[in-house]
Amino acid sequence: MSMVCLSDFEAYAKKYLPKIAWDYFAAGADDCTTRDENILAYKRIRFRPRMLRDVSVMDIRTKILGSEISFPVGIAPTGFHQLAWPDGEKSTARAARAMDTCYIASTYSTCTLEEISAAAPGGLHWFQLYIHRNRAASQQLVQRAEALGFQGLVLTADLPYTGKRRNDVRNGFRLPPHMKVKNLEGAFEVCKMSLLDPSVTWNDIYWLRSLTRLPIIIKGILTREDAELAVKHGVQGIIVSNHGGRQLDEGPATIDALVEVVEAVRGRVEVYVDGGIRKGSDVLKALALGAKCVFIGRPALWGLAYKGEEGLQDVLRILQDEFRLSMALAG
Ligand code: FNR
Repeated sequence: MSMVCLSDFEAYAKKYLPKIAWDYFAAGADDCTTRDENILAYKRIRFRPRMLRDVSVMDIRTKILGSEISFPVGIAPTGFHQLAWPDGEKSTARAARAMDTCYIASTYSTCTLEEISAAAPGGLHWFQLYIHRNRAASQQLVQRAEALGFQGLVLTADLPYTGKRRNDVRNGFRLPPHMKVKNLEGAFEVCKMSLLDPSVTWNDIYWLRSLTRLPIIIKGILTREDAELAVKHGVQGIIVSNHGGRQLDEGPATIDALVEVVEAVRGRVEVYVDGGIRKGSDVLKALALGAKCVFIGRPALWGLAYKGEEGLQDVLRILQDEFRLSMALAG
Protein backbone atom coordinates (compact mmCIF):
# COMPACT_ATOMS: atom_id res chain seq x y z
CA MET A 1 0.00 0.00 0.00
CA SER A 2 1.44 3.37 -0.97
CA MET A 3 1.04 5.91 1.83
CA VAL A 4 1.07 9.38 0.32
CA CYS A 5 -0.99 11.49 2.68
CA LEU A 6 -2.52 11.19 6.14
CA SER A 7 -5.90 10.04 4.80
CA ASP A 8 -4.18 6.92 3.48
CA PHE A 9 -3.30 6.02 7.06
CA GLU A 10 -6.84 6.79 8.16
CA ALA A 11 -8.24 4.46 5.50
CA TYR A 12 -5.82 1.73 6.57
CA ALA A 13 -6.72 2.09 10.25
CA LYS A 14 -10.43 2.05 9.47
CA LYS A 15 -10.04 -1.11 7.42
CA TYR A 16 -7.78 -3.08 9.75
CA LEU A 17 -8.44 -2.02 13.34
CA PRO A 18 -11.11 -3.87 15.29
CA LYS A 19 -14.32 -1.85 14.99
CA ILE A 20 -14.48 -1.07 18.69
CA ALA A 21 -10.97 0.48 18.61
CA TRP A 22 -11.61 2.37 15.37
CA ASP A 23 -14.86 3.75 16.79
CA TYR A 24 -13.11 4.87 19.98
CA PHE A 25 -10.37 6.69 18.03
CA ALA A 26 -12.76 8.26 15.53
CA ALA A 27 -15.43 9.27 18.02
CA GLY A 28 -16.69 12.80 18.41
CA ALA A 29 -19.33 13.95 20.86
CA ASP A 30 -23.03 13.86 19.97
CA ASP A 31 -23.48 14.73 16.26
CA CYS A 32 -19.71 15.09 15.73
CA THR A 33 -20.30 18.61 14.43
CA THR A 34 -17.24 20.09 16.13
CA ARG A 35 -15.04 17.11 15.25
CA ASP A 36 -15.83 17.61 11.58
CA GLU A 37 -15.76 21.41 11.81
CA ASN A 38 -12.14 21.26 13.02
CA ILE A 39 -11.24 19.92 9.59
CA LEU A 40 -13.68 21.99 7.51
CA ALA A 41 -12.51 25.25 9.09
CA TYR A 42 -8.99 24.70 7.70
CA LYS A 43 -10.45 24.23 4.24
CA ARG A 44 -12.10 27.67 4.39
CA ILE A 45 -8.79 29.48 4.96
CA ARG A 46 -6.91 30.69 1.89
CA PHE A 47 -3.27 31.71 1.51
CA ARG A 48 -1.96 34.95 -0.01
CA PRO A 49 1.16 33.43 -1.55
CA ARG A 50 4.18 35.58 -2.39
CA MET A 51 6.60 34.86 -5.23
CA LEU A 52 10.32 35.12 -6.01
CA ARG A 53 11.51 35.04 -2.43
CA ASP A 54 14.42 32.56 -2.66
CA VAL A 55 13.12 29.49 -0.91
CA SER A 56 16.17 27.39 -1.73
CA VAL A 57 17.10 27.10 1.95
CA MET A 58 14.47 26.72 4.62
CA ASP A 59 14.70 26.16 8.32
CA ILE A 60 11.60 24.55 9.76
CA ARG A 61 12.93 23.93 13.25
CA THR A 62 11.35 25.74 16.15
CA LYS A 63 11.47 25.88 19.94
CA ILE A 64 8.69 25.13 22.38
CA LEU A 65 9.30 26.29 25.93
CA GLY A 66 12.98 26.47 25.13
CA SER A 67 13.35 22.99 23.63
CA GLU A 68 14.18 22.67 19.96
CA ILE A 69 12.05 20.42 17.77
CA SER A 70 12.68 19.52 14.12
CA PHE A 71 9.43 21.07 12.89
CA PRO A 72 6.37 22.61 14.54
CA VAL A 73 4.31 19.44 14.93
CA GLY A 74 4.13 17.41 18.12
CA ILE A 75 2.02 14.49 19.29
CA ALA A 76 -1.10 15.33 21.29
CA PRO A 77 -1.98 13.19 24.29
CA THR A 78 -4.33 10.33 23.40
CA GLY A 79 -5.25 7.33 25.50
CA PHE A 80 -4.83 3.61 25.01
CA HIS A 81 -2.18 3.30 22.29
CA GLN A 82 -2.08 -0.47 22.70
CA LEU A 83 -5.44 -0.51 20.96
CA ALA A 84 -3.51 0.60 17.87
CA TRP A 85 -0.23 -1.30 18.27
CA PRO A 86 1.01 -3.89 20.79
CA ASP A 87 3.93 -1.79 22.05
CA GLY A 88 1.57 1.14 22.56
CA GLU A 89 3.05 4.36 23.91
CA LYS A 90 6.59 2.96 23.83
CA SER A 91 6.38 2.99 20.03
CA THR A 92 4.92 6.50 20.10
CA ALA A 93 7.80 7.75 22.22
CA ARG A 94 10.38 6.14 19.94
CA ALA A 95 8.83 7.63 16.82
CA ALA A 96 8.66 11.10 18.36
CA ARG A 97 12.28 10.91 19.39
CA ALA A 98 13.38 9.63 15.99
CA MET A 99 11.62 12.59 14.39
CA ASP A 100 12.98 14.93 17.02
CA THR A 101 9.68 16.25 18.25
CA CYS A 102 7.59 16.45 21.39
CA TYR A 103 5.33 13.67 22.66
CA ILE A 104 2.68 14.49 25.25
CA ALA A 105 1.96 11.24 27.11
CA SER A 106 -1.60 10.83 28.39
CA THR A 107 -2.62 9.95 31.93
CA TYR A 108 -4.59 7.19 30.18
CA SER A 109 -1.57 5.48 28.66
CA THR A 110 -1.40 1.72 28.44
CA CYS A 111 2.32 1.88 29.32
CA THR A 112 3.71 3.43 32.49
CA LEU A 113 5.53 6.74 32.48
CA GLU A 114 8.65 4.77 33.37
CA GLU A 115 8.26 2.52 30.31
CA ILE A 116 7.65 5.50 28.05
CA SER A 117 10.68 7.35 29.28
CA ALA A 118 12.91 4.27 29.10
CA ALA A 119 11.74 3.54 25.55
CA ALA A 120 13.06 6.89 24.30
CA PRO A 121 15.63 8.28 26.70
CA GLY A 122 16.50 11.86 25.90
CA GLY A 123 13.25 12.39 23.98
CA LEU A 124 11.21 15.52 24.63
CA HIS A 125 8.26 14.34 26.72
CA TRP A 126 5.48 16.30 28.37
CA PHE A 127 3.02 14.63 30.70
CA GLN A 128 -0.72 15.23 30.35
CA LEU A 129 -2.68 15.20 33.57
CA TYR A 130 -6.31 14.62 34.33
CA ILE A 131 -6.95 15.63 37.92
CA HIS A 132 -8.72 12.83 39.76
CA ARG A 133 -10.74 12.97 42.96
CA ASN A 134 -7.90 11.04 44.51
CA ARG A 135 -5.61 14.08 44.63
CA ALA A 136 -2.78 12.11 46.21
CA ALA A 137 -2.69 9.86 43.14
CA SER A 138 -2.61 12.88 40.81
CA GLN A 139 0.14 14.49 42.87
CA GLN A 140 2.16 11.30 42.75
CA LEU A 141 1.81 11.12 38.96
CA VAL A 142 3.05 14.68 38.51
CA GLN A 143 6.03 14.05 40.72
CA ARG A 144 6.82 10.76 39.00
CA ALA A 145 6.79 12.52 35.63
CA GLU A 146 9.08 15.27 36.85
CA ALA A 147 11.52 12.78 38.40
CA LEU A 148 11.61 10.83 35.12
CA GLY A 149 12.66 13.92 33.17
CA PHE A 150 9.36 14.86 31.56
CA GLN A 151 9.75 18.53 30.69
CA GLY A 152 6.23 19.93 30.78
CA LEU A 153 2.97 19.34 32.61
CA VAL A 154 -0.13 19.61 30.43
CA LEU A 155 -3.33 20.07 32.38
CA THR A 156 -6.38 19.10 30.34
CA ALA A 157 -9.16 21.46 31.29
CA ASP A 158 -12.03 20.33 29.08
CA LEU A 159 -12.94 17.01 30.62
CA PRO A 160 -14.77 17.40 33.94
CA TYR A 161 -16.92 14.57 32.59
CA THR A 162 -16.44 12.49 29.46
CA GLY A 163 -18.41 13.72 26.43
CA LYS A 164 -21.14 11.53 25.01
CA ARG A 165 -19.61 9.54 22.17
CA ARG A 166 -22.46 7.56 20.73
CA ASN A 167 -20.58 4.65 19.19
CA ASP A 168 -18.62 4.08 22.40
CA VAL A 169 -21.94 3.89 24.24
CA ARG A 170 -23.37 1.53 21.63
CA ASN A 171 -20.24 -0.66 21.71
CA GLY A 172 -20.05 -0.62 25.52
CA PHE A 173 -16.45 0.49 24.97
CA ARG A 174 -13.92 -0.63 27.54
CA LEU A 175 -10.32 -1.73 27.41
CA PRO A 176 -9.76 -5.42 26.64
CA PRO A 177 -8.82 -7.27 29.84
CA HIS A 178 -5.13 -7.64 28.91
CA MET A 179 -4.65 -3.86 28.66
CA LYS A 180 -4.41 -1.62 31.67
CA VAL A 181 -4.29 2.10 32.36
CA LYS A 182 -0.94 1.36 33.85
CA ASN A 183 -0.13 4.77 35.33
CA LEU A 184 -3.09 4.49 37.64
CA GLU A 185 -2.79 0.87 38.61
CA GLY A 186 -3.16 0.51 42.30
CA ALA A 187 -4.30 4.10 42.72
CA PHE A 188 -7.92 3.14 42.28
CA GLU A 189 -10.23 1.15 40.10
CA VAL A 190 -9.38 2.62 36.71
CA CYS A 191 -11.36 3.29 33.58
CA LYS A 192 -14.28 4.64 35.49
CA MET A 193 -14.10 8.15 34.17
CA SER A 194 -16.39 9.24 37.00
CA LEU A 195 -13.25 9.24 39.15
CA LEU A 196 -12.26 12.45 37.39
CA ASP A 197 -12.63 15.44 39.65
CA PRO A 198 -15.31 17.72 38.17
CA SER A 199 -14.73 20.34 40.87
CA VAL A 200 -11.41 21.51 39.39
CA THR A 201 -11.09 25.31 39.08
CA TRP A 202 -8.44 27.87 38.16
CA ASN A 203 -7.23 27.77 41.75
CA ASP A 204 -5.96 24.25 41.16
CA ILE A 205 -3.26 25.73 38.93
CA TYR A 206 -1.79 27.10 42.16
CA TRP A 207 -2.04 23.63 43.68
CA LEU A 208 -0.18 22.16 40.71
CA ARG A 209 2.37 24.95 40.91
CA SER A 210 3.05 23.94 44.53
CA LEU A 211 3.77 20.34 43.45
CA THR A 212 6.22 20.84 40.61
CA ARG A 213 8.74 23.10 38.99
CA LEU A 214 7.70 21.92 35.53
CA PRO A 215 6.18 24.49 33.20
CA ILE A 216 2.39 24.17 33.16
CA ILE A 217 0.57 24.14 29.84
CA ILE A 218 -3.21 24.30 29.89
CA LYS A 219 -5.05 22.34 27.22
CA GLY A 220 -8.62 22.93 26.10
CA ILE A 221 -8.86 26.73 25.98
CA LEU A 222 -11.23 28.17 23.35
CA THR A 223 -12.04 31.76 24.38
CA ARG A 224 -10.24 35.04 25.02
CA GLU A 225 -11.70 35.11 28.55
CA ASP A 226 -10.12 31.79 29.49
CA ALA A 227 -6.90 32.70 27.74
CA GLU A 228 -6.69 35.80 29.92
CA LEU A 229 -7.36 33.70 33.04
CA ALA A 230 -4.70 31.21 32.00
CA VAL A 231 -2.09 33.95 31.71
CA LYS A 232 -3.25 35.48 34.98
CA HIS A 233 -2.81 32.15 36.76
CA GLY A 234 0.75 31.87 35.57
CA VAL A 235 0.70 29.04 33.01
CA GLN A 236 3.58 28.93 30.54
CA GLY A 237 1.60 27.68 27.56
CA ILE A 238 -1.91 27.26 26.17
CA ILE A 239 -3.12 24.54 23.84
CA VAL A 240 -6.20 25.73 21.99
CA SER A 241 -8.16 22.51 21.79
CA ASN A 242 -11.66 21.07 21.85
CA HIS A 243 -10.38 17.56 22.51
CA GLY A 244 -10.79 16.66 18.84
CA GLY A 245 -14.51 17.42 19.14
CA ARG A 246 -15.00 14.67 21.71
CA GLN A 247 -16.29 16.85 24.54
CA LEU A 248 -18.74 19.74 24.03
CA ASP A 249 -20.24 19.43 20.59
CA GLU A 250 -20.93 22.65 18.70
CA GLY A 251 -18.18 24.70 20.19
CA PRO A 252 -15.85 26.43 17.73
CA ALA A 253 -13.33 24.83 15.41
CA THR A 254 -9.94 25.20 17.06
CA ILE A 255 -8.34 27.10 14.17
CA ASP A 256 -11.12 29.72 14.52
CA ALA A 257 -10.70 29.91 18.30
CA LEU A 258 -6.93 30.24 17.89
CA VAL A 259 -7.29 33.73 16.48
CA GLU A 260 -9.05 35.16 19.53
CA VAL A 261 -6.78 33.36 21.96
CA VAL A 262 -3.64 34.64 20.24
CA GLU A 263 -5.08 38.15 20.27
CA ALA A 264 -5.87 37.97 23.99
CA VAL A 265 -2.51 36.48 24.96
CA ARG A 266 -0.47 39.16 23.17
CA GLY A 267 2.70 37.09 23.21
CA ARG A 268 2.83 36.67 26.99
CA VAL A 269 2.83 32.85 26.80
CA GLU A 270 3.23 30.34 23.98
CA VAL A 271 0.05 29.30 22.19
CA TYR A 272 -0.34 25.95 20.45
CA VAL A 273 -3.33 24.36 18.71
CA ASP A 274 -4.61 20.87 18.01
CA GLY A 275 -7.62 19.43 16.19
CA GLY A 276 -8.10 18.73 12.50
CA ILE A 277 -4.49 19.00 11.35
CA ARG A 278 -4.33 16.63 8.39
CA LYS A 279 -1.90 18.31 5.95
CA GLY A 280 1.29 20.31 6.00
CA SER A 281 -0.64 23.32 4.74
CA ASP A 282 -2.87 23.12 7.85
CA VAL A 283 0.27 23.47 9.95
CA LEU A 284 1.29 26.53 7.95
CA LYS A 285 -2.17 28.10 8.41
CA ALA A 286 -2.04 27.55 12.17
CA LEU A 287 1.43 29.11 12.37
CA ALA A 288 0.37 32.03 10.20
CA LEU A 289 -2.50 32.64 12.63
CA GLY A 290 -0.16 32.73 15.60
CA ALA A 291 0.39 29.20 16.88
CA LYS A 292 3.94 28.36 17.92
CA CYS A 293 3.40 24.68 17.17
CA VAL A 294 0.55 22.25 16.48
CA PHE A 295 -0.21 18.80 17.82
CA ILE A 296 -1.78 15.81 16.09
CA GLY A 297 -4.10 13.36 17.83
CA ARG A 298 -5.84 10.83 15.58
CA PRO A 299 -3.26 10.86 12.74
CA ALA A 300 -0.65 9.60 15.23
CA LEU A 301 -2.96 6.70 16.13
CA TRP A 302 -3.47 5.87 12.44
CA GLY A 303 0.31 5.80 11.98
CA LEU A 304 0.67 3.43 14.94
CA ALA A 305 -2.12 1.23 13.60
CA TYR A 306 -0.32 1.03 10.26
CA LYS A 307 3.15 -0.03 11.44
CA GLY A 308 3.80 1.03 15.02
CA GLU A 309 6.81 3.26 15.50
CA GLU A 310 7.66 3.15 11.79
CA GLY A 311 4.12 4.05 10.75
CA LEU A 312 4.02 7.02 13.09
CA GLN A 313 7.37 8.17 11.75
CA ASP A 314 5.91 7.94 8.24
CA VAL A 315 2.99 10.14 9.30
CA LEU A 316 5.31 12.73 10.82
CA ARG A 317 7.66 12.65 7.85
CA ILE A 318 4.81 13.19 5.39
CA LEU A 319 3.54 16.14 7.43
CA GLN A 320 7.07 17.53 7.61
CA ASP A 321 7.58 17.27 3.85
CA GLU A 322 4.18 18.79 3.13
CA PHE A 323 4.80 21.61 5.58
CA ARG A 324 8.16 22.44 4.01
CA LEU A 325 6.64 22.39 0.54
CA SER A 326 3.72 24.62 1.56
CA MET A 327 6.14 27.10 3.10
CA ALA A 328 8.15 27.23 -0.08
CA LEU A 329 5.15 27.55 -2.36
CA ALA A 330 3.63 30.26 -0.18
CA GLY A 331 6.88 32.19 -0.32
C1 FNR B 1 -7.87 12.23 22.77
N1 FNR B 1 -7.56 13.42 23.40
C2 FNR B 1 -7.04 13.39 24.67
N2 FNR B 1 -6.65 14.54 25.28
C3 FNR B 1 -6.10 14.52 26.51
O1 FNR B 1 -5.76 15.58 27.03
N3 FNR B 1 -5.91 13.33 27.15
C4 FNR B 1 -6.27 12.13 26.62
O2 FNR B 1 -6.07 11.09 27.21
C5 FNR B 1 -6.89 12.16 25.35
N4 FNR B 1 -7.30 11.00 24.77
C6 FNR B 1 -7.75 11.01 23.47
C7 FNR B 1 -8.04 9.81 22.83
C8 FNR B 1 -8.41 9.80 21.50
C9 FNR B 1 -8.70 8.51 20.83
C10 FNR B 1 -8.51 11.02 20.79
C11 FNR B 1 -8.89 11.04 19.34
C12 FNR B 1 -8.26 12.21 21.42
C13 FNR B 1 -7.61 14.71 22.65
C14 FNR B 1 -6.29 14.94 21.90
O3 FNR B 1 -5.26 15.31 22.79
C15 FNR B 1 -6.40 16.09 20.90
O4 FNR B 1 -6.94 17.22 21.53
C16 FNR B 1 -7.24 15.75 19.66
O5 FNR B 1 -7.08 14.42 19.29
C17 FNR B 1 -6.84 16.65 18.51
O6 FNR B 1 -7.64 16.43 17.41
P1 FNR B 1 -7.20 15.51 16.15
O7 FNR B 1 -5.77 15.78 15.83
O8 FNR B 1 -7.46 14.10 16.58
O9 FNR B 1 -8.15 15.98 15.09
